[in-house]
This record gives sequence, C-alpha cells and structure tokens, in this order.
Amino acid sequence: MSNLSSAAFWNLTFHVQTFGCQMNKHDSERVTGMLEALGALSVDSVEEADIVVFMTCCVREAADVRLMGQVSSMKNIALRAGSPLRKRMVAIGGCIGQRDGGKLLDELPHVDVVFGTNNLASLPSMLESVLDDGSRLSETVEESEAFPTELPTTREHSWAAWLPITIGCNNFCTYCIVPYVRGREKSRPFEDIVREAEGYVAAGVKEITLLGQNVNSYGRDLYGNPRFADILQAVAETGIERLRFATSHPKDLTDEVIAKFGSVPNLMPALHLPAQHGSNSILKAMHRSYTVEHYRELVSKLREACPGISMSTDIIVGFPGETEEDFQATYRLVEDIGYSQVFTFIYSKREGTPAAKLVDDTPREVIQDRFDRLRVAVEKGAYDFNQAQAGKTVPVLFEGASKKDERTITGRSPENITVNVPLPDEMSAEALMGSIANVEIAEAKTWYLRGTLA
Ligand code: SAH
Ligand code: SF4
Ligand code: F3S
Repeated sequence: MSNLSSAAFWNLTFHVQTFGCQMNKHDSERVTGMLEALGALSVDSVEEADIVVFMTCCVREAADVRLMGQVSSMKNIALRAGSPLRKRMVAIGGCIGQRDGGKLLDELPHVDVVFGTNNLASLPSMLESVLDDGSRLSETVEESEAFPTELPTTREHSWAAWLPITIGCNNFCTYCIVPYVRGREKSRPFEDIVREAEGYVAAGVKEITLLGQNVNSYGRDLYGNPRFADILQAVAETGIERLRFATSHPKDLTDEVIAKFGSVPNLMPALHLPAQHGSNSILKAMHRSYTVEHYRELVSKLREACPGISMSTDIIVGFPGETEEDFQATYRLVEDIGYSQVFTFIYSKREGTPAAKLVDDTPREVIQDRFDRLRVAVEKGAYDFNQAQAGKTVPVLFEGASKKDERTITGRSPENITVNVPLPDEMSAEALMGSIANVEIAEAKTWYLRGTLA
C-alpha cells in the first residue's frame, strides 16, 4: 500500500455496503480503514458516495439475488453534486467477488472493480488504477498469502472489536459454499492475537469477539498446536471486560473450552452452537460429524459448567431427503434445549457443493410449513428464556439509541439479549454508549428485555 499516491483519494467519499456474516463485517472494517488511511471520507449513503464497495455473501441464494438487484440499481442513482468523478465507482468484494471474479464485470457493465476474500489489500491500488485510466479490473486469488492483520481497521463501534483468530474452513459441510469462497482454514499466530487484544484493552474496548468459521479448531496448523482453550485463557487475561467467540462447531468443542465458561469470569455466559439438524441421518448427510446425542450432551455439560448460559443455534429446514420424521427430531431438539435465539434457514441449493447433487424433491410448501411450525418452538424458547431474566439486575453494555425511539437506549446483557432502557430526562444516549451499567429487568418479551437503570 505504501507506493500508493494517496492524493488520488483526497476529496473522494465512499460507502461500504455489507452483507453476510461477521467475517464480512470485519473485512468491511478493514476496507474502511484502508480507504480512510488514504484520505477518503466514509459516508452513510450510496447517494453521497463517489465509491461504493459491496461486501457480498453467497451462503444462500436469496442473499445472492438481493445483492445483484442492489448492485444493478447503482446505475440509476446520480452522482452527488460536487463529486470530482464523472461516474460513480462500484466495487464488488466479499464472497460473490471471490466466487465469480471477472465474470461479474461482463454481467454488470457499471461495475469497475471485483476483488476477492483473499486480496482485500489490493483494493486501494485497483481503485487507483481505475481512477488513473478508467480501466475495469478484477483480481481474486485462491489462497491468501498472509493473514490480513496488518491492514488498518476502522471499527464500527469504538467499544467492541471483532478479532479474527482463524480464516477459512476445512469442514466442507455438504450444503455450504463457505470453504470454496473463504479457502482452507488458517490460524493466526498466538502472539499476534494476544497483542491485538492487549491493544484493544489499552484503547478502552469493552468487548472482544474472537472470530472464525470454527474457532474450536484454532491452532491445528501452527507450530506446537496451541489450542483454542489456551487462546481463550490468554485473551481473557488481558483484562477485557467481555469476551465472546463465534462460531463453534460441535464436533470440536472440547471439555477444556466448556470448563472455561465456569472458570473465566469475563467469558460471557452465551454460546452460539450451530446444531443444523436434529436427525442423525441428516446430520450424516450434511457431513457434520456428530450425532444429536453428542450435541445434547455438550449442552448438558455447558449448563453444568455455567448454569443459565444462553444457548443459540443455526438450523436448516428442508435439507434434501428430510422426512417429516427427521423434521420432528429437529423440532424436539429446539423444544428441549430452550434456545434464547435460533437462526432458521430454509435449505438453499448452492452450485458446486456436494449436496447440490442430491435428489431434492420435497415440495416447497411442505418445507415452508415445517419452517413455520419450527418458528413456534423457536419463539417459545426465546420467550421462556427471557422470562427467567425478569426481576434480575444485569450489567448492560449500551450500544446506542433504539431505532424506534430515540429516548430509549439499547444494549446487551451478558447473555447477549437485547435490553431496552428508557433514558432518564437529563441523560443522552451518547453519554451511555459504550459503557456498562446495571439494569433492573422489569419486563421480558420474546426478543428483548425492558428495564430501568439500577
Ligand atoms: N461456520 C459457521 C457458520 C457458517 S454460515 C458454522 O459452521 O456454523 C451460517 C449458517 O448459514 C450456517 O450455520 C447454516 O445454518 C446456514 N447455511 C449455510 N449454507 C446454507 C445453505 N446452503 N442453505 C441454507 N442455510 C445454509
Ligand atoms: Fe460451512 Fe460447515 Fe464450515 Fe460452517 S463449518 S462454514 S457450515 S462448511
Ligand atoms: Fe456469507 Fe461469505 Fe460469510 S458466503 S456467510 S459472507 S463467509
């Protein structure tokens, strides 16, 4: 990046539009950091932006289709008055960029730059070259040479940081495109992670979330095989107030990590543990490598180590060959565990994955009906979990004014439940943002809690 003449970017505004998972959100923070370091100004809307960067997701077809619509609509939005450019620059990055590469330039004539998940760092020089001579460019690479940790970052919130500890995935669940667009799993050196965490603590960050597609397999590719439990302990010891991690694959969640929920006070009592399905034959066809009995056993151990832990999960409905009986097994699992949150997805065929070759003949209405029935169990679980919080006093990390009411501030409990608090008359949302204060929970709804400052 050092040989770039940043003068090219002064006077330019940009907007990053992000889709998909935390990995993309984090990559977007790096894109923002890089462009700001070159002197460009981040703006909140595409209308005001000279450069629009789409950080895309292709995990399900719906995400794919929606994105294409949004990218296409760019050509109808006028450039802001006073822009030094003659035409808005549009860049596509993220997982669709990685998957489709140069093909996107053919399909979308108003797109200027396509980059992939492994070459974020090339974006500024690609943009500069387009600014220079109006050329259109695409560049994707199969494997990243290095962990993109040296890139500047502009975090979305000053008090919370996502800290990637692995990139990529080696699991190849049969429905999933992620290993094809994010490459093989790579762990980041232990010392780098701890150093970054220490930097965040010194900068006043309150919450760190360790990130990876499967954080539990951290370190297998590193010298001496440091383990996830070790990195968890080391980051906790930096003194960060709140520590979380995502995502955990049940097959690799060890007793050592489970025990940390009982012994590490700043590790928050919440775990996202994707089950995907409740039937062993479907789990096998998904190549998940665990049984539902094993999954249930993990949850029992977690609740023993940390009573009151908030469990959340991902569930896929309608995987090829799913029978009503298979679905019932998922339903029972969701009912029995009592999740505080379940992200439910209808199976979406992704070309290039092994499951795309399976016979998929369950009628759409049958799958939709299963999906709708499952929502009932999901909502009951969340409601019951939240009811158990009523009457408690809990420390809340405040994030900002509620979208619906500016006199209500919203934040998260240790269990990662949204907590809404009406602001006392003399207090502004800004005064509380990024700080932790006790809240007495007066009311519990399905998706949030309501209370007053204690
Ligand atoms: N690495 C994480 C999350 C990956 S993607 C994990 O293993 O849990 C997030 C979620 O999207 C997955 O957990 C899965 O439930 C869902 N998903 C992935 N591919 C899908 C597909 N083809 N159709 C429907 N849902 C899918
Ligand atoms: Fe996809 Fe499975 Fe890897 Fe998660 S663990 S990213 S679901 S292949
Ligand atoms: Fe989507 Fe890519 Fe994440 S496909 S879910 S943005 S890894």
